[in-house]
Amino acid sequence: MLSRLPRSLASSSKVAQRRFISTTTRRRSEALFAHRDTTYNNPKIPFEFNAENVKRAQAIIAKYPPQYKKAAVIPLLDLAQRQNNGWTSISAMNHVATVLEMPPMRVYEVATFYTMFNREPIGKNFVQVCTTTPCVLRGSTEILDTVCNELGGIKPGQTTKDGKFTVIEVECQGACSNAPMMVVGDDFYEDLTPATTKKILDAFSRGDKPKPGPQSGRLTSENSAGLTALTSKPYGPGEFCSPEFQ
Ligand code: FES
Repeated sequence: MLSRLPRSLASSSKVAQRRFISTTTRRRSEALFAHRDTTYNNPKIPFEFNAENVKRAQAIIAKYPPQYKKAAVIPLLDLAQRQNNGWTSISAMNHVATVLEMPPMRVYEVATFYTMFNREPIGKNFVQVCTTTPCVLRGSTEILDTVCNELGGIKPGQTTKDGKFTVIEVECQGACSNAPMMVVGDDFYEDLTPATTKKILDAFSRGDKPKPGPQSGRLTSENSAGLTALTSKPYGPGEFCSPEFQ
Protein backbone atom coordinates (compact mmCIF):
# COMPACT_ATOMS: atom_id res chain seq x y z
CA MET A 1 0.00 0.00 0.00
CA LEU A 2 1.28 3.43 -0.84
CA SER A 3 0.88 6.58 1.18
CA ARG A 4 1.10 10.01 -0.38
CA LEU A 5 3.15 11.32 2.54
CA PRO A 6 6.85 10.49 2.89
CA ARG A 7 7.23 8.26 5.92
CA SER A 8 9.38 10.74 7.85
CA LEU A 9 6.84 13.53 7.32
CA ALA A 10 3.90 11.35 8.15
CA SER A 11 5.39 10.13 11.40
CA SER A 12 6.41 13.62 12.51
CA SER A 13 3.07 15.31 11.85
CA LYS A 14 0.67 15.20 14.76
CA VAL A 15 -2.16 13.75 12.74
CA ALA A 16 -0.70 11.66 10.00
CA GLN A 17 -3.11 11.90 7.11
CA ARG A 18 -2.86 8.89 4.91
CA ARG A 19 -4.54 8.63 1.59
CA PHE A 20 -4.17 5.32 -0.07
CA ILE A 21 -3.88 5.40 -3.80
CA SER A 22 -5.46 2.03 -4.16
CA THR A 23 -7.50 -0.02 -1.74
CA THR A 24 -8.20 -2.85 -4.14
CA THR A 25 -7.44 -6.16 -2.51
CA ARG A 26 -4.51 -7.92 -4.03
CA ARG A 27 -5.46 -10.69 -6.43
CA ARG A 28 -3.98 -13.87 -5.02
CA SER A 29 -4.69 -16.05 -8.00
CA GLU A 30 -3.79 -15.63 -11.61
CA ALA A 31 -6.03 -18.51 -12.60
CA LEU A 32 -8.40 -16.28 -14.55
CA PHE A 33 -5.66 -14.92 -16.76
CA ALA A 34 -2.82 -17.39 -17.03
CA HIS A 35 -2.78 -20.52 -19.13
CA ARG A 36 -0.78 -23.50 -17.95
CA ASP A 37 -0.54 -26.53 -20.21
CA THR A 38 -2.36 -29.55 -18.83
CA THR A 39 -3.12 -32.97 -20.26
CA TYR A 40 -6.61 -31.81 -21.23
CA ASN A 41 -5.74 -28.29 -22.32
CA ASN A 42 -2.63 -27.77 -24.38
CA PRO A 43 -1.94 -26.55 -27.91
CA LYS A 44 -1.15 -30.07 -29.16
CA ILE A 45 -4.77 -31.13 -28.78
CA PRO A 46 -6.31 -30.58 -32.22
CA PHE A 47 -9.31 -28.32 -32.64
CA GLU A 48 -11.00 -27.19 -35.82
CA PHE A 49 -14.52 -26.05 -36.57
CA ASN A 50 -16.70 -28.90 -37.78
CA ALA A 51 -18.40 -28.64 -41.19
CA GLU A 52 -21.54 -26.97 -39.78
CA ASN A 53 -19.57 -24.45 -37.79
CA VAL A 54 -17.32 -23.65 -40.73
CA LYS A 55 -20.48 -22.48 -42.52
CA ARG A 56 -21.64 -20.56 -39.47
CA ALA A 57 -18.22 -18.94 -39.09
CA GLN A 58 -18.23 -17.90 -42.74
CA ALA A 59 -21.70 -16.36 -42.34
CA ILE A 60 -20.54 -14.44 -39.24
CA ILE A 61 -17.33 -13.21 -40.88
CA ALA A 62 -19.27 -12.07 -43.96
CA LYS A 63 -21.06 -9.49 -41.77
CA TYR A 64 -17.84 -7.49 -41.41
CA PRO A 65 -15.70 -5.72 -44.01
CA PRO A 66 -12.87 -8.09 -45.07
CA GLN A 67 -10.18 -5.88 -43.52
CA TYR A 68 -12.02 -6.00 -40.16
CA LYS A 69 -12.78 -9.70 -39.97
CA LYS A 70 -11.14 -9.87 -36.56
CA ALA A 71 -14.25 -8.06 -35.30
CA ALA A 72 -15.86 -11.50 -35.43
CA VAL A 73 -13.65 -12.76 -32.62
CA ILE A 74 -16.36 -12.87 -29.93
CA PRO A 75 -19.02 -14.75 -31.94
CA LEU A 76 -16.36 -17.14 -33.24
CA LEU A 77 -15.06 -17.82 -29.75
CA ASP A 78 -18.64 -18.48 -28.71
CA LEU A 79 -19.03 -20.90 -31.61
CA ALA A 80 -15.79 -22.64 -30.66
CA GLN A 81 -16.87 -22.87 -27.03
CA ARG A 82 -20.21 -24.45 -27.97
CA GLN A 83 -18.46 -27.02 -30.16
CA ASN A 84 -15.96 -27.73 -27.37
CA ASN A 85 -18.58 -28.84 -24.79
CA GLY A 86 -19.02 -25.40 -23.29
CA TRP A 87 -15.45 -24.34 -22.64
CA THR A 88 -12.75 -22.51 -24.59
CA SER A 89 -9.49 -24.42 -24.78
CA ILE A 90 -6.16 -22.99 -25.88
CA SER A 91 -6.49 -24.94 -29.14
CA ALA A 92 -9.95 -23.43 -29.72
CA MET A 93 -8.52 -19.93 -29.22
CA ASN A 94 -5.62 -20.70 -31.54
CA HIS A 95 -8.01 -21.95 -34.21
CA VAL A 96 -10.10 -18.79 -33.98
CA ALA A 97 -6.88 -16.77 -34.36
CA THR A 98 -5.97 -18.75 -37.48
CA VAL A 99 -9.43 -18.36 -39.02
CA LEU A 100 -9.45 -14.61 -38.36
CA GLU A 101 -5.80 -14.15 -39.30
CA MET A 102 -5.02 -12.35 -36.07
CA PRO A 103 -2.28 -12.84 -33.46
CA PRO A 104 -3.30 -15.56 -30.96
CA MET A 105 -2.48 -13.12 -28.12
CA ARG A 106 -5.32 -10.84 -29.26
CA VAL A 107 -7.73 -13.76 -29.02
CA TYR A 108 -6.42 -14.71 -25.56
CA GLU A 109 -6.99 -11.12 -24.44
CA VAL A 110 -10.64 -11.30 -25.44
CA ALA A 111 -11.22 -14.77 -24.01
CA THR A 112 -9.67 -13.86 -20.67
CA PHE A 113 -11.52 -10.54 -20.42
CA TYR A 114 -15.06 -11.80 -20.95
CA THR A 115 -16.27 -14.12 -18.20
CA MET A 116 -18.71 -15.78 -20.61
CA PHE A 117 -15.76 -17.77 -21.91
CA ASN A 118 -15.04 -20.72 -19.64
CA ARG A 119 -11.41 -21.66 -19.82
CA GLU A 120 -11.83 -24.83 -17.82
CA PRO A 121 -14.14 -27.75 -18.62
CA ILE A 122 -17.67 -27.44 -17.25
CA GLY A 123 -20.47 -29.86 -16.46
CA LYS A 124 -23.23 -30.81 -18.90
CA ASN A 125 -25.57 -28.25 -17.32
CA PHE A 126 -23.99 -24.89 -16.62
CA VAL A 127 -25.90 -23.16 -13.81
CA GLN A 128 -25.29 -19.44 -13.33
CA VAL A 129 -27.02 -17.93 -10.31
CA CYS A 130 -27.35 -14.15 -10.33
CA THR A 131 -26.26 -12.63 -7.03
CA THR A 132 -26.37 -8.93 -7.87
CA THR A 133 -28.34 -6.57 -5.60
CA PRO A 134 -31.90 -6.82 -7.05
CA CYS A 135 -31.67 -10.61 -7.00
CA VAL A 136 -30.13 -10.62 -3.50
CA LEU A 137 -32.99 -8.45 -2.25
CA ARG A 138 -35.44 -11.03 -3.53
CA GLY A 139 -33.71 -14.09 -2.12
CA SER A 140 -30.87 -15.15 -4.42
CA THR A 141 -28.69 -16.10 -1.44
CA GLU A 142 -31.24 -18.78 -0.60
CA ILE A 143 -31.42 -19.82 -4.24
CA LEU A 144 -27.64 -20.21 -4.46
CA ASP A 145 -27.65 -22.23 -1.22
CA THR A 146 -30.43 -24.42 -2.58
CA VAL A 147 -28.53 -25.05 -5.81
CA CYS A 148 -25.30 -25.91 -3.98
CA ASN A 149 -27.08 -28.20 -1.51
CA GLU A 150 -29.11 -29.92 -4.22
CA LEU A 151 -25.93 -30.58 -6.16
CA GLY A 152 -24.34 -32.48 -3.31
CA GLY A 153 -22.78 -29.59 -1.42
CA ILE A 154 -20.56 -28.24 -4.20
CA LYS A 155 -19.46 -24.62 -4.02
CA PRO A 156 -19.75 -21.91 -6.69
CA GLY A 157 -17.09 -22.62 -9.30
CA GLN A 158 -17.24 -26.37 -8.81
CA THR A 159 -18.61 -29.26 -10.87
CA THR A 160 -20.52 -32.24 -9.53
CA LYS A 161 -18.64 -35.55 -9.47
CA ASP A 162 -20.93 -37.04 -12.13
CA GLY A 163 -20.11 -34.10 -14.42
CA LYS A 164 -23.78 -33.17 -14.77
CA PHE A 165 -23.65 -29.69 -13.26
CA THR A 166 -21.30 -26.75 -12.80
CA VAL A 167 -22.50 -23.82 -10.72
CA ILE A 168 -21.17 -20.28 -10.62
CA GLU A 169 -22.31 -16.91 -9.31
CA VAL A 170 -22.82 -14.23 -11.94
CA GLU A 171 -23.54 -10.52 -12.06
CA CYS A 172 -26.85 -9.04 -13.27
CA GLN A 173 -28.29 -10.89 -16.26
CA GLY A 174 -30.75 -8.11 -17.10
CA ALA A 175 -33.80 -9.94 -15.75
CA CYS A 176 -34.08 -8.02 -12.48
CA SER A 177 -37.85 -7.59 -12.76
CA ASN A 178 -38.08 -11.36 -12.49
CA ALA A 179 -35.57 -11.73 -9.66
CA PRO A 180 -34.28 -14.01 -8.30
CA MET A 181 -33.13 -15.87 -11.36
CA MET A 182 -30.58 -18.30 -12.71
CA VAL A 183 -29.40 -19.28 -16.14
CA VAL A 184 -29.06 -22.91 -17.13
CA GLY A 185 -27.36 -23.34 -20.48
CA ASP A 186 -28.87 -20.61 -22.63
CA ASP A 187 -32.18 -20.31 -20.76
CA PHE A 188 -33.37 -18.02 -17.99
CA TYR A 189 -35.32 -19.43 -15.03
CA GLU A 190 -36.97 -16.57 -13.18
CA ASP A 191 -39.12 -15.71 -10.15
CA LEU A 192 -37.42 -18.59 -8.38
CA THR A 193 -38.17 -20.02 -4.96
CA PRO A 194 -36.16 -22.80 -3.31
CA ALA A 195 -38.95 -25.23 -4.26
CA THR A 196 -39.04 -24.29 -7.96
CA THR A 197 -35.23 -24.27 -8.06
CA LYS A 198 -35.16 -27.86 -6.78
CA LYS A 199 -37.76 -28.89 -9.35
CA ILE A 200 -35.73 -27.37 -12.19
CA LEU A 201 -32.53 -29.07 -11.09
CA ASP A 202 -34.32 -32.41 -10.68
CA ALA A 203 -35.63 -32.14 -14.23
CA PHE A 204 -32.17 -31.40 -15.63
CA SER A 205 -30.76 -34.23 -13.58
CA ARG A 206 -33.24 -36.63 -15.23
CA GLY A 207 -32.17 -35.32 -18.63
CA ASP A 208 -35.39 -33.30 -19.18
CA LYS A 209 -35.52 -29.66 -20.07
CA PRO A 210 -37.93 -27.72 -17.83
CA LYS A 211 -39.85 -24.80 -19.28
CA PRO A 212 -37.77 -21.64 -19.02
CA GLY A 213 -39.10 -18.21 -17.99
CA PRO A 214 -40.93 -17.10 -14.83
CA GLN A 215 -41.73 -19.97 -12.50
CA SER A 216 -44.38 -17.98 -10.64
CA GLY A 217 -47.19 -18.19 -13.15
CA ARG A 218 -46.40 -14.79 -14.57
CA LEU A 219 -46.23 -14.66 -18.34
CA THR A 220 -43.35 -12.21 -18.47
CA SER A 221 -42.65 -9.41 -16.02
CA GLU A 222 -46.21 -8.08 -15.65
CA ASN A 223 -47.35 -6.82 -12.25
CA SER A 224 -47.98 -9.89 -10.12
CA ALA A 225 -50.64 -7.95 -8.17
CA GLY A 226 -52.69 -7.55 -11.33
CA LEU A 227 -53.43 -4.47 -13.42
CA THR A 228 -53.20 -1.13 -11.63
CA ALA A 229 -53.35 1.05 -14.74
CA LEU A 230 -55.02 0.79 -18.14
CA THR A 231 -57.79 -1.20 -16.50
CA SER A 232 -60.45 -0.31 -19.09
CA LYS A 233 -60.48 -1.08 -22.77
CA PRO A 234 -58.29 1.48 -24.51
CA TYR A 235 -59.96 3.39 -27.31
CA GLY A 236 -58.48 2.83 -30.69
CA PRO A 237 -57.71 5.40 -33.37
CA GLY A 238 -60.94 4.43 -35.11
CA GLU A 239 -63.13 5.52 -32.16
CA PHE A 240 -63.07 9.17 -33.20
CA CYS A 241 -63.82 8.34 -36.81
CA SER A 242 -67.33 7.02 -36.01
CA PRO A 243 -70.21 8.99 -37.62
CA GLU A 244 -71.14 11.00 -34.48
CA PHE A 245 -67.69 12.57 -34.45
CA GLN A 246 -67.76 13.56 -38.09
S1 FES B 1 -29.82 -8.42 -10.52
FE1 FES B 1 -30.24 -10.46 -11.07
S2 FES B 1 -30.94 -10.25 -13.08
FE2 FES B 1 -30.46 -8.23 -12.55
